[in-house]
Amino acid sequence: MSQSILSTRNLTKTFLLHNEPQLILEDVNFEMAARDFICVVGSSGCGKSSFLELLTGISKPDTGSIFYQGKEITGKSGLLGYMPQDDLLLPWLNVVDNALIPVKIRKGDLRTAKARIQSLLPVFGLEKHASHLPYQLSGGLRQRAAFLRTCMMETQLLLLDEPFANLDAITRLQLQNWLKDIAQDLKLSIILVTHDINEAISLGDEIRVMRGRPGNFVGTFVLKDRKPFTEAQAEDLKREILALAVS
Ligand SMILES: Nc1ncnc2c1ncn2[C@@H]1O[C@H](COP(=O)(O)OP(=O)(O)OP(=O)(O)O)[C@@H](O)[C@H]1O
Ligand SMILES: [Mg+2]
Repeated sequence: MSQSILSTRNLTKTFLLHNEPQLILEDVNFEMAARDFICVVGSSGCGKSSFLELLTGISKPDTGSIFYQGKEITGKSGLLGYMPQDDLLLPWLNVVDNALIPVKIRKGDLRTAKARIQSLLPVFGLEKHASHLPYQLSGGLRQRAAFLRTCMMETQLLLLDEPFANLDAITRLQLQNWLKDIAQDLKLSIILVTHDINEAISLGDEIRVMRGRPGNFVGTFVLKDRKPFTEAQAEDLKREILALAVS
């Protein structure tokens, strides 16, 4: 296996619900190689977003550790690129200024960052929209602007929580293809959470299946060397994944 970029050891997380502790994630051990595109699938409420929030340091695990590029990062935020499920661009900032937010938060060099954004605008198909405010953009363009902002976190690893869930089918397909290409071009490692199994099959080098109560990974499908699938193979694979996710 190529070099590991991210791993977790025995992550456990409890939330209080009506003053009762609920075990949401239990003993989660996860590992991924650099440059891999991993899709996480699982039914609603199984703990996918909670898992990403632990990785980003937004919430802290009760027990367990997270390692990024060989260093422990448990509870530390700002190190991984993260696009939450309900990503919002700030409505009063244009595309470039939204993309500068992570740079300002980490007090990075604004001049270098602006040059980087200018070079990335065409990669993200946003070159004509640099000075547009979010309300002037279509849903697909807003999503790309949010991706651009996530990339400006300047990290090799992006965590994307259902990034295409609110888009129409055609825009979704276009952005899926585009994401595959920029992951290659920018040499990114990606964890993409989705409950759309077709999306996972189409995008993932690997699919990791999660099951809830408490949440944990229950299976891995390595797809990298098996593509392209015939329609029949894709149907069989979908059935297998679904059976594992809901059993
Ligand atoms: N801050 C919180 N406080 C209490 N319970 C929470 C909190 N965040 C999540 N939960 C609970 O943890 C469980 C997992 O939630 P999570 O959002 O991780 O699921 P998910 O797999 O991302 O679901 P979906 O596919 O619907 O986005 C759910 O039962 C949810 O109600
Ligand atoms: Mg979620």
